[in-house]
Amino acid sequence: YKADLARTPQGDFMRPTSGRRRSSRSANGVGVQVEDTRICVVMVGLPARGKSLIAQKLVRYLGWLSITAKCFNVGNYRRTNTPQPNASFFDFSNKEGERLRRAAAQAAVDDMCKWFKLPGNLIAILDATNSTKERRRWIKDRCDREGIETLFVESKCDDEELIMSNIREVKLTSPDYKGQDPEEAAQDFRNRIMMYERVYETLDEDESDLTYCKVIDVGAQVIINRLQDYLQSRVVYYLMNLHIKPRSIWISRHGESMFNLSGQIGGDANISDRGEMYARKLPELVKQSAGDLPLTVWTSTLKRTAQTSRFLPYEKLAWKALDELDSGVCDGLTYADIEKEYPQDFKARDADKYNYRYLGGESYRDVVIRLEPIIMELERSENILIVTHQAVLRCIYAYFMGSSQEKSPWMEVPLHCLIKLTPRAYGTQEERIHADVPAVSTWREKGSKAVHADTPESSRIGSPVLAGQGKLNVPVLKV
Ligand code: ATP
Ligand code: F6P
Repeated sequence: YKADLARTPQGDFMRPTSGRRRSSRSANGVGVQVEDTRICVVMVGLPARGKSLIAQKLVRYLGWLSITAKCFNVGNYRRTNTPQPNASFFDFSNKEGERLRRAAAQAAVDDMCKWFKLPGNLIAILDATNSTKERRRWIKDRCDREGIETLFVESKCDDEELIMSNIREVKLTSPDYKGQDPEEAAQDFRNRIMMYERVYETLDEDESDLTYCKVIDVGAQVIINRLQDYLQSRVVYYLMNLHIKPRSIWISRHGESMFNLSGQIGGDANISDRGEMYARKLPELVKQSAGDLPLTVWTSTLKRTAQTSRFLPYEKLAWKALDELDSGVCDGLTYADIEKEYPQDFKARDADKYNYRYLGGESYRDVVIRLEPIIMELERSENILIVTHQAVLRCIYAYFMGSSQEKSPWMEVPLHCLIKLTPRAYGTQEERIHADVPAVSTWREKGSKAVHADTPESSRIGSPVLAGQGKLNVPVLKV
């Protein structure tokens, strides 16, 4: 398939121009014709139903796939510097409250329509309760006039215990309740929900002309109506796979390999003696971090990840999609060899590492695309430990942490280090656990040839305080 295609300067493959292809269209590498589709995802649901969480995850996921998306949160348009109103503001018989809330919705929709006029902006998420049929019709009519598709996404959930825990987990830290007594704030939020319940209308057969997806009880049931195109189904498929059970994902590179020692890239080498030491230590590190939690280990199909995970006492699954970025004709070379043999390519990769595709191989962008099923499966799963490779790990990390395409390919991920990622309400918490088994550093700084040398002692183990406690943890919290 690849052989039929020409390479663009960015490394993207282009189909030979056919009579049917409009030259003005541009593809973003994930199969989306940029000028074809603009979608407003309209969130629907009572307060504390996870709408903002869904909206933020969707923006992160789409961004990771190079689909430009933005969330417009109506609550942020409503908030002013004056003291925040209490629940009675949300009483639908409160005319002034109603006027201000409508004005906030209007301002958010206006900004969204402006945003859609910029090229490449594909998906907006309108995050508000949008709790009445009248409000939803108003949004649909406006979007229709602007030539924007609408996809309504309702989160419906009546589990009292879950709602209360949502309130405790996220609502009490909302700017609406800054500095307030948590008990009073929780009661006020409960009252706010009651105000909305009085007028709330779920999506039903009266709105059968709308495109919608109704997610009931966090995905226990999903009702889909009138999906129209590929991008909409992709969004819906992602939403169908989300769950909110507490869990973590651990990611590690394989133990140091013989190729790491010689500075060669790619290949399918065995692990070194020090790599073997890491493999033997890994079960202890995982136990220290995960306790007795059940988990599944995912590896690539390359020897070094299987060797690294062979002492782990868990079920294992090998994925081809987790194999290292294919370096094509450069496979088996050192960075110095590449600079000598392919000087132009060496420069081009430094100039745009995310998009640069090795001759006969892959780019970071390609890896992200092949990792999509992995991400989808990760979203569906609970505790997973992934033993993989530098570039692949960077791409998975970028999904969870929302790292930019400029930065993620340059991220330093040392060998012999276990990274624990824990999804939280509005972000991902990160913890790094260093094994204190020496290894070379395979990190290459932009512009350098980087000889693979041993990492300095200081970057392998934790700070003196933590090391003094007999632990090798270096917790890094990024939420
Ligand atoms: P508001 O209308 O007040 O902005 P919201 O619906 O946007 O509320 P979030 O702020 O997103 O609610 O609430 C986040 C909480 O909802 C998290 O604790 C998350 O675990 C939980 N949550 C996520 N998805 C769902 C879901 N589908 N149903 C119920 N709760 C969910
Ligand atoms: O109550 C939750 C909330 O997000 C408010 O912060 C915001 O003002 C409101 O919903 C927006 O939704 P509506 O469309 O009902 O005005």
